[in-house]
Amino acid sequence: MTTDVPAVELRHVSKAFGALRVLDDVSLAVPAGRAVCILGRSGTGKSVTLKHIVGLLQPDAGQVLVEGEDIGQLAGPDLARVRKRIGLLFQNAALFDSISVGENVAFPLRRHTRAPDDEIRARAQDLLAQVGLEREYDKMPADLSGGMKKRAGLARALVLSPPIVLVDEPSAGLDPLTAGEIDALLVALNDRSKTTLIVVTHNIPSARVIGDELVFLHEGRILARGDAATLDRSEIPLVRQFMRSDSSG
Ligand SMILES: Nc1ncnc2c1ncn2[C@@H]1O[C@H](COP(=O)(O)OP(=O)(O)O)[C@@H](O)[C@H]1O
Ligand SMILES: [Mg+2]
Repeated sequence: MTTDVPAVELRHVSKAFGALRVLDDVSLAVPAGRAVCILGRSGTGKSVTLKHIVGLLQPDAGQVLVEGEDIGQLAGPDLARVRKRIGLLFQNAALFDSISVGENVAFPLRRHTRAPDDEIRARAQDLLAQVGLEREYDKMPADLSGGMKKRAGLARALVLSPPIVLVDEPSAGLDPLTAGEIDALLVALNDRSKTTLIVVTHNIPSARVIGDELVFLHEGRILARGDAATLDRSEIPLVRQFMRSDSSG
């Protein structure tokens, strides 16, 4: 077990786009098995943070370590090996429109494994069942509701059993009931499989349910962090105010 190496660690990460300073000396260590929620207003660098963790963006300064490896220093097969250990659900689910829901879920298996077709289909079907989509294998993404697309995207993110899962705004655009179902799936994933979770959300009720630790990003920096009770009692009015908002913004 790599218990003492954080699953994900940002060390003094700074990132600017032109004159826009998005991350300003952000440090954050996420131990294996923890569920961290990243909170903050729109445009504060939450998605940018996730993109650094998977190596889609490189920091201007600082390092991003995944299970102890500096992802910015990796390329080719080494980068692919580390990325395979991270399941990522983007904000817009991003299913491939031209293949079935089941084949969307099967896609990482076809790409990263040499398992036979029947095994791949069975595994994809199993994942679909886990997110309550057991009957949707042959449907096309366009025929799914927004919540179902999210769940299918989550099934695809989980199909390789990654030890680290990143989720960007899982409940954005969903009704509270559907959002609650996604939250429950994420909580179960963290509890049962000890999957390390980093969830970007501005849905405070979700963050309370999912997060062992809440990290509040503001103007490129971590303004506050801790469990929900700690942030509720924060000395910073903006943090207390944010914690009192009860719906996604
Ligand atoms: N590739 C990029 N090029 C230029 N600007 C970007 C890029 N990605 C993000 N930004 C800007 O960085 C800021 C933070 O973006 P983002 O992390 O997506 O915010 P959020 O916290 O809402 O997820 C925004 O102002 C966004 O416009
Ligand atoms: Mg975002």
